[in-house]
Amino acid sequence: MPLQQVEEASSARARLRHATDGMHRAVDSRFAGLLADAADGYERFLTAIAGGLLPLERALTRAHIERIWPDWPHHARSAALHLDLARLDIEIPDQQAEPHLDSEAEILGVLYVLEGSRLGGAFILRELRRSADPARLNAIGYLSHGEGQGLWPRFLQHLEASDAVKCAPDEAEAGAALAFSYFLPHREHDLFPHEELVPPRGIRISRPKDL
Ligand code: HEM
Repeated sequence: MPLQQVEEASSARARLRHATDGMHRAVDSRFAGLLADAADGYERFLTAIAGGLLPLERALTRAHIERIWPDWPHHARSAALHLDLARLDIEIPDQQAEPHLDSEAEILGVLYVLEGSRLGGAFILRELRRSADPARLNAIGYLSHGEGQGLWPRFLQHLEASDAVKCAPDEAEAGAALAFSYFLPHREHDLFPHEELVPPRGIRISRPKDL
């Protein structure tokens, strides 16, 4: 294998991507399903995002994320999401309890998922802009947050440089799996009773230790 490929395969990002591939596919398929509904798909998408993002960002704040990553205030999206929900008159969904995050590696695993979601978000935003629905276009603060500012590459630099992740890659993977699980419907069956509650075959859901 050429050296560059070996380095890429052993990067922290490659490891996290590999470990959570099945969960990403499940989340991707769930959110694509919500968005496919022209009537209120975007509103349900934002509600489902809020169900995961708000408790996870609260958990990061409680874990004093800025001590680990001073850049955090530029990345947090709860405020932008709250504004979108208000503009579309969407009720904030019942809050899931935030997880307790134990270690720096676990925190960076959670951040990998939140920051990585910007990549899929860019695709969704492109589609939304095509739809030209004025009310929705007035509520794209979450999806367009940090657009053009290189937030994802900046996060990746931090992830790859992290000694904590190098020493405890399993903890980083647990953090990423935990974060993905917040975007899967088994946690939200009260909010989305019509959705399939069983994750697709082969997908392992890791639950937070204190829930
Ligand atoms: C309809 C919804 C979604 C679609 C279509 C989608 C699609 C994608 C695509 C195409 C990429 C790769 C982009 C690139 O390499 O340039 C990506 C990356 C990623 N997405 Fe999603 N995504 C969706 C929702 C989400 C959500 C809700 C999360 C998590 C909360 C998420 C987490 C991630 C992560 C962590 C990555 C980075 C994977 C890597 O390391 O390359 N995605 N997504």
